[in-house]
Amino acid sequence: MRPGHHTIDESRQGEALQSSAVGERKLYLESYGCQMNFSDSEIVASILAEAGYATTKNEAEADLILLNTCSIRDNAEQRIRHRLQHLKGGKRNNPKLKVGILGCMAERLRDQLLEEEKLVDLVVGPDAYRDLPRLVDEVEGGQKAVNTLLSREETYAEIQPVRLDDKGVTAFISIMRGCDNMCSFCVVPFTRGRERSRDPQSIVAEARDLFAKGYREVTLLGQNVDSYKWNVDAKGNVKDEGQPVVRFAQLMDLVSDVDSDLRVRFSTSHPKDMTDEVLEVMARKDNLCKYIHLPVQSGDSDVLKRMNRGYTREWYLDRIAAIRRIMPDCAISTDVIAGFCGETVEQHGATLSLMREVRYEMAFMFKYSERPRTLAERKFEDDVPEEEKGRRLTEIIQLQQEHSKERTAAQCGRIYRVLVEGPSKKNAEEFQGRNTYNTMIVFPKGDVEPGQYHYVRTTDHTSITLRGELVEEAVAQEEGFIA
Ligand code: 5AD
Ligand code: SF4
Repeated sequence: MRPGHHTIDESRQGEALQSSAVGERKLYLESYGCQMNFSDSEIVASILAEAGYATTKNEAEADLILLNTCSIRDNAEQRIRHRLQHLKGGKRNNPKLKVGILGCMAERLRDQLLEEEKLVDLVVGPDAYRDLPRLVDEVEGGQKAVNTLLSREETYAEIQPVRLDDKGVTAFISIMRGCDNMCSFCVVPFTRGRERSRDPQSIVAEARDLFAKGYREVTLLGQNVDSYKWNVDAKGNVKDEGQPVVRFAQLMDLVSDVDSDLRVRFSTSHPKDMTDEVLEVMARKDNLCKYIHLPVQSGDSDVLKRMNRGYTREWYLDRIAAIRRIMPDCAISTDVIAGFCGETVEQHGATLSLMREVRYEMAFMFKYSERPRTLAERKFEDDVPEEEKGRRLTEIIQLQQEHSKERTAAQCGRIYRVLVEGPSKKNAEEFQGRNTYNTMIVFPKGDVEPGQYHYVRTTDHTSITLRGELVEEAVAQEEGFIA
């Protein structure tokens, strides 16, 4: 799941975890939504492994099916509803099969889910996963079980996630949970609770452990990584004078010190909190990847105000200017919402003009979807007609496609240091990996292995992928390359 507050990779939605160690009972775990959800699923797999559950990729042999769900837009929830319909057949074939809903939809709907979806046995919110062994026991005893308590402290800090879903090269590390921003369109504060940061030592330890196991890239995850803080309270007062204060800039410094061959990415930044200090740390170190996902949502200051984003168009563009000043080559991506409450055609035009000004490498673009309990649902009318939302979204997507193509073309022709991730999706004779800018590069396999760094001269491209060939380090050194 490349990116989302997440960067959201549609291609991985609903993907199941691979088989792990042997256990008595079999768990089939499916994840939807943002990277945080995929990362949580690895924590869930770890907690349930302790309780004797081994994950399986084969749905048919499962004793327990868990869907880790997303509520961000109505269509995300509809997908889960359809999936549940489909699971009815499985339950008919195996009456002992238990089905559980985890994640944001569980948190949002709670017991209501048990009433609405008869085949659901278990509903567990994002802060209650430690309770899973007990809840699963209850369910096995024939009862229904629910725990949707949110926590102010839970970060699952010391739980070792079971890494099951990739080739052992890239991994996610969750550094904080929840969100205190209260963007008026967003359901996350309701589903994931208050913001809390994880102990930096446990984060660094996890990064070290991953590096020792052969991983070469970690993505630090949080709803708003720029407000990561340790040993300092919400008002900014130091808690323990004897201990250092760690904010996001220091955390990145610490994690990138694990090894210069460990690439570090992060997601998601918030324009109102992104400091120059973070940018300066990024600029200093080659293993801090030159890529920032900076969701803008709208290019119009009045719309941003109604969205409660805490910044104006000018502020946002100043942050972009800071990125360009400190890291002239940094790639930037964004999230955009089309047709928010009260958005006029002119205000939509302001989003397009901002996109032209920034020229994003990539963007995730959505139609506004009203969510229950949010500020926007209570205060504003969802008054842009569906068809008009669609028209605006299409304009936004078309413009972004132009910019993406332009950006890929501009990157073509250089030599990049690439972290080899594995076989290309389209051609098993080729490998794929990314450059520091997060652009995918495909090249003939040669004599290299996933998890290694190699130099690739790019010679060709499609709209979002570069193509090239391996070159020797000496050649890269002589001609110059991008680290
Ligand atoms: N409708 C449409 N898009 C939304 N997002 C969040 N809430 C909504 C909503 N109610 C988008 C934002 C956010 C991304 C993860 O999802 O652009 O950055
Ligand atoms: Fe992730 Fe939950 Fe937000 Fe979906 S609603 S994107 S799962 S935090």
